[in-house]
Amino acid sequence: MPVARTEVAIVGAGPAGLLLGRLLGNAGIETVVLELRDRDHVEHRQRAGILEQATMDVLEAAGVGARMVRERLLHDGVELRFGGAGHRVDLHGLTGRRVAIYAQTEVVKDLVAARLEAGVPLDFEVSDVAVSGLDTDAPTVTYTHDGERVELRCEVVAGCDGFHGACRQAIPEAAMTVVERDYPFAWLGILAQVAPSSPELIYANHEDGFALASMRSPEISRLYVQCDAADELEAWSEDRIWAALHTRLATDDGWTLREGPVLDSSITPMRSHVASPLRHGRLFLAGDAGHIVPPTGAKGLNLAVADVTVLAAALIDHLHHGDDAGIDAYSDRALDRVWRCEHFSWWMTAMLHRFPGADGFDRALQRSQLDYLAASEAARTSLAENYVGLPL
Ligand code: APR
Ligand code: PHB
Repeated sequence: MPVARTEVAIVGAGPAGLLLGRLLGNAGIETVVLELRDRDHVEHRQRAGILEQATMDVLEAAGVGARMVRERLLHDGVELRFGGAGHRVDLHGLTGRRVAIYAQTEVVKDLVAARLEAGVPLDFEVSDVAVSGLDTDAPTVTYTHDGERVELRCEVVAGCDGFHGACRQAIPEAAMTVVERDYPFAWLGILAQVAPSSPELIYANHEDGFALASMRSPEISRLYVQCDAADELEAWSEDRIWAALHTRLATDDGWTLREGPVLDSSITPMRSHVASPLRHGRLFLAGDAGHIVPPTGAKGLNLAVADVTVLAAALIDHLHHGDDAGIDAYSDRALDRVWRCEHFSWWMTAMLHRFPGADGFDRALQRSQLDYLAASEAARTSLAENYVGLPL
């Protein structure tokens, strides 16, 4: 079996793995990125679309933000819509920070292009990845690539392989605690070839269910409706999707939603999930490999960026200076931000969705929370500072 060597083996070429590789490469640390799928798949998976200011700053500082700066749509606010009326949350006015619309697909494309341009290893379509020796100072990652089994010897393994990845499975159950919550609904998302119907995002609480009007560009809308957790796409014709969006986003002042050709559609399950610690010996978990948030708070991608920003600094101190304070503190430090985002995402989800079996008391609590946000600048400031993201 051919033996290869690197300093940090990174499993997963999503935002977490690719950005970690970039941050470490910028510090002169050798990495190999191993990815299960092919390039086209990872660059076109429809996922998130909101970048926090901290995320934008990290991408720019890492030298992979030029196209993002050119093409992003900067947003100063979001709208909460309920009871037939909209209520704007002035993110920038309340916090001095803003968010950007820049699709995760574009972030991944920028990171892949930068890695290939740097000429450093990025193996797509690997299979049968196995990690071992995590409790030694010479862990290995074995995998199959181009029909050949390879042993990659390294000093550190970064598990950036998402919720269904292999790395976390390599941690003994007794060494890890997992807490989770599955929500009794899902999101059906569409990409439509039509100009967005509003300049900013609209989050709608409606008796029929949640809806979100987002966007990808001045020409492309990104729209979501709450659906049953067990729903399949086949149960949702385009007519049914548009009808639900019109109903749930309607206002008393006659605002109208533009329709257009549907380019892509998918159903996303809703779950909260946190594994701890995010470290086992020489294995460090980052991004979805360690935690999942429901998309209501737009935190998944931003949490992945936050994790690897902390992890990269820690690994640089460890590998270049023999200082282990950062790697020893990584899990606790990352999880502090994870839990802030888990709570915010849960809170937004609880406030905006129609829960099966919810009674009049539940619905009154939701309405009271929404009315309080509409009436109180203090309440909107709390939402705003969580939405734009606390400083890294
Ligand atoms: N070996 C190699 N690669 C793997 C393996 C494996 N065994 N299992 C999964 N992968 C790859 C996946 O194909 C994917 O490309 O790991 C990558 C993980 O990327 P993401 O799932 O995007 O996770 P992450 O990089 O943490 O980014 C989090 O992505 O899923 C969204 O909502 C999430 O926006 C958030 C962001
Ligand atoms: C998106 O545009 O995909 C999006 C925006 C905000 C969210 C979730 C998804 O809360």
